[in-house]
Amino acid sequence: MSIAFISGSPSATSRSSLLLKEVQQRLASSGEETEWIAVRDLPATALLQAQAAEPNIAKAVSQVLQARAIVIASPIYKAAYSGLLKTFLDLLPQKAFEGKLVLPLSSAGSPLHVLALDFTIRPVLAALGVREVIPPVSVLDSQIQVAADGTTTFDSHILTRLDDTLELLRDRLHSQDLDALHRRTQQNLPLSAVPLGI
Ligand SMILES: Cc1cc2nc3c(=O)[nH]c(=O)nc-3n(C[C@H](O)[C@H](O)[C@H](O)COP(=O)(O)O)c2cc1C
Repeated sequence: MSIAFISGSPSATSRSSLLLKEVQQRLASSGEETEWIAVRDLPATALLQAQAAEPNIAKAVSQVLQARAIVIASPIYKAAYSGLLKTFLDLLPQKAFEGKLVLPLSSAGSPLHVLALDFTIRPVLAALGVREVIPPVSVLDSQIQVAADGTTTFDSHILTRLDDTLELLRDRLHSQDLDALHRRTQQNLPLSAVPLGI
């Protein structure tokens, strides 16, 4: 059972994606199976026209449905998560996150908006039927340093926060109640029978 990583930034040099990649590497190195979904690489017209049957989009939606946990990363744009991420979330079936664990991640320019992801994405996650939201990790641009060779360094307290968050996520991921719920949800939600939430 995999963990799906959804990158919601339109940027090719995305800081929120660097944070997402750090989380993916840590979980992969502890033996978790991971799937990467970069929304910016999905066909733009199909996203904007909500063409859920487009093969690349259908594959990404299927990766989400089959995952046991979802890690979502977004930049903060205009005090909310990105519009690009919303185009993908809008394509998901109505209860796509049922029985799943979700960890939201964000990067922002201003300390004033460091909680913006939590405020804006929680109602959406609830509408998608999420089982449990792990408290989001939000990082300021000033807390991520990217060297000319691409080497990324996070402030030490961000790394400590990630350690604590991933310990909680692993603990919840392998709990028996989530396991049972995930298996039941997978049985009840054949992909072809899932109605779109739009
Ligand atoms: C169009 C746009 C709007 C933004 N709006 C905000 C904002 O409202 N609040 C904030 O704190 N930062 C804002 N920022 C800064 C980004 O959130 C920040 O640079 C973030 O790390 C970008 O993430 P990314 O590299 O993954 O795209 C904005 C940046 C852009 C390009």
